[in-house]
Amino acid sequence: MNMLVSKKAIMITVVCAAMVFAQTFAQKEQHKEEKPQNLKVLPKDISEEDLHTEMRNYSRALGVRCNYCHEGQKIEGQERMKWDFASDKKEDKEVAREMIKMTAALNKNFISKIGDGSLRQVTCVTCHNGNAHPINSVDSLKKDAEPSKH
Ligand code: HEC
Ligand code: HEC
Repeated sequence: MNMLVSKKAIMITVVCAAMVFAQTFAQKEQHKEEKPQNLKVLPKDISEEDLHTEMRNYSRALGVRCNYCHEGQKIEGQERMKWDFASDKKEDKEVAREMIKMTAALNKNFISKIGDGSLRQVTCVTCHNGNAHPINSVDSLKKDAEPSKH
């Protein structure tokens, strides 16, 4: 290798390294922005993965989509919605916060204290069963449901 080529090689290596560094840095910055800004009930240090699992569970438990509790806007000519997950504008988000506290209290103060404490915990789906409004009358049950025999 002559001098000229090796100098060129070093230059290329340096430029590539700088690009990789810039890319990584940009991704980190983006990630920072995605960090939850407005958690009042869930643990503030919750991992992104756990937060999303939790959110998906709420949605499935109630049979709704994210926009039931979160502000989302459709942007002209764009496939993806623009979300403001930190916003508290939607009333159902506030209701959901109370529901999270209620569910935790039910488990802590009651379910775990019954018997030897081995009863299964209450979760959103226990009551909601895929509906935003849980049924609250036995008359809503399927007519053909037979009482179970012990
Ligand atoms: C039943 C209501 C409900 C549904 C449905 C729901 N969320 Fe949430 N979400 C909440 C509540 C309540 C909080 C705030 C929790 C707190 O205060 O600790 C929250 C917080 C968040 C945050 C953190 C925002 C911030 O910056 O503080 C993100 C991100 C988020 N939700 C994403 C989603 C996504 C994605 C979906 C759909 C898959 C979804 N949520 C569905 C109720 C809901
Ligand atoms: C012990 C039963 C129970 C549990 C557990 C429960 N909920 Fe509820 N939830 C209700 C009842 C009852 C209502 C009132 C429904 C109505 O008035 O039609 C309700 C209403 C709601 C509403 C308002 C629906 C609307 O549009 O008015 C939201 C949002 C909600 N619950 C979210 C949750 C979430 C999220 C969880 C889990 C963290 C949860 N709930 C756990 C019983 C429960």
